[in-house]
Amino acid sequence: MKNFAQERFDHAQELIYQAGKVLYQAKLEQSAISEKSGHQDLVTRWDQQTEQFLRRSILAAYPDDAIVGEEYSSMGGESAAMAVNNSCTWYIDPIDGTTNFINQHRHYAISIGCYQAEEPLFGLVLDVEQQELYWACRGEGAFCNETQLHTSQREQISQLLLNTPGVLYTFLKPHSCRDGLIRLAHDVRGVRSMGSVALELCAVAAGESDLLVAMRSSPWDHNAARIILNEAGGSICALSGQPLPLDSASPILAANSQSLLQKIWREYCQGE
Ligand code: IPD
Ligand code: CA
Ligand code: CA
Repeated sequence: MKNFAQERFDHAQELIYQAGKVLYQAKLEQSAISEKSGHQDLVTRWDQQTEQFLRRSILAAYPDDAIVGEEYSSMGGESAAMAVNNSCTWYIDPIDGTTNFINQHRHYAISIGCYQAEEPLFGLVLDVEQQELYWACRGEGAFCNETQLHTSQREQISQLLLNTPGVLYTFLKPHSCRDGLIRLAHDVRGVRSMGSVALELCAVAAGESDLLVAMRSSPWDHNAARIILNEAGGSICALSGQPLPLDSASPILAANSQSLLQKIWREYCQGE
């Protein structure tokens, strides 16, 4: 008999592929787009439909599990907000990179992370247009489709790539680490921005990038990809240097290894 986590993982994998197929074929009409807090914070009918599909399917199979999703944080009554006994909490971003979905129709992902209490069980991030599924089950390594992922071995700062999904918030808006991060941008080999926290964390997991800073990241943005990053050999923390909380939004710092994470934090974030 399949164990508790494996059964959920298999189910999640089926659901993410089904949801991905629908988004891949989506024809986005202007009337399906609306603003949330402003013109840089958008949602589409496709974000909403995808989250509803995932929520309904997960709760139908596991009614005692809890769901934390971006678009419907309180949908589904109490059982949707709080896991019962030793059941699980699922963190869902139906489309991470909604702006890319709207303007480019690529570089967007579906993100599903599953935890039992504070313990990570598995994470899945589907790059819909590339048809690449990043996934990891705790203790079993990280993969992109069938290929095992390992973070890069790069340590020398002048050889690193830094990803940051929200350039405006990292380098232009005032915050306590801004001067240090601008210094870091000068010291690394290059800065990249894709516009999806989940995919950019997976890029660090895959060794294609070495560092990530995101000033605005929520549990549904990072809780799946952080499992994949850790299983690939990387490390993540809050930009304050504290452990990254599971259930609240936080600026994040991620790196290809624990030692690089500590070094970057000490030299560019601490005391800024
Ligand atoms: C956003 C993306 C973006 C990041 C934002 C996130 P969404 O998620 O990951 O790159 O800069 O902070 O909120 O809205 O596309 O799901
Ligand atoms: Ca997101
Ligand atoms: Ca989203």
